[in-house]
Amino acid sequence: MEMMNRRPLVIANWKMNKLPSESAAYIQKIENPLKRYPDVIPVLAGQDVLLPAMVEAAKNTAISIGAENMYWQDRGAFTGETSPAALEDLGISYVIIGHSERRNYFRETDEKVNLKAQAALQHNLIPIIAIDEAIKPRDDNDRSHWVVNEVIESLEGIPAEVVKSVIIAYEPTAAIGSGQAMTPALAQFSLRRIRLTLADMYDWDVANAVRIMYGGSVKPENAYELMIQDDIDGVLVGDSALNPDNFIELCQVANRALLTKIRRLDEF
Ligand code: PGA
Repeated sequence: MEMMNRRPLVIANWKMNKLPSESAAYIQKIENPLKRYPDVIPVLAGQDVLLPAMVEAAKNTAISIGAENMYWQDRGAFTGETSPAALEDLGISYVIIGHSERRNYFRETDEKVNLKAQAALQHNLIPIIAIDEAIKPRDDNDRSHWVVNEVIESLEGIPAEVVKSVIIAYEPTAAIGSGQAMTPALAQFSLRRIRLTLADMYDWDVANAVRIMYGGSVKPENAYELMIQDDIDGVLVGDSALNPDNFIELCQVANRALLTKIRRLDEF
């Protein structure tokens, strides 16, 4: 029942792939078709230099824009960093924090992720906290421990009433960009573990409110089986979502998965 309060999200992570001049055309292409799926929340995340053009193109649409990273201080001598206050001022709604590529190539730690998540929340930005598996787990038990620790450390000090707006994106490193998504059953297993961790850290009211997503080689062909899993509230999509037609299809699939979940509840 609680899952019905969590509207499905489809988040495109463009990474470092598009040019400012390409972003408006993408948004214009998806804008009208997405009106068919008002229950699905579409978010496009782009690199900083694209953000002003993306915000402008998405004005008066249901599409929200996200950043792919930010710093935790508002202002100061931090050359090359992006301020959360600047993102807020620009009209950005979401920010991906601790993506596997940031953790692996730019040494982002759970401690930094936590600082960034807190700063985002202070600036009305919804943090999409990415949880990866940077070490190769030996078995499912090991995998659970790794994921649980990342969740605990990333959310440290964030109070219950605020944490409800946080989004957690579970992205097994091995699945990212590999073309091979995790099986829906294994993804559900990990996401359930994350929700149980939230219930342990806070309570079930919080655990049932937080949106948890799966990411890693999601495409229109495999998104339905992933999105009908009880704990999967959305998908974070890289490669496949570079194509606007795929993004529309992913939203259509998210809508179909939502209808399946509603039907399943009715059968109870
Ligand atoms: P992918 O990337 O869909 O290309 O695997 C997902 C991500 O890194 O967020």
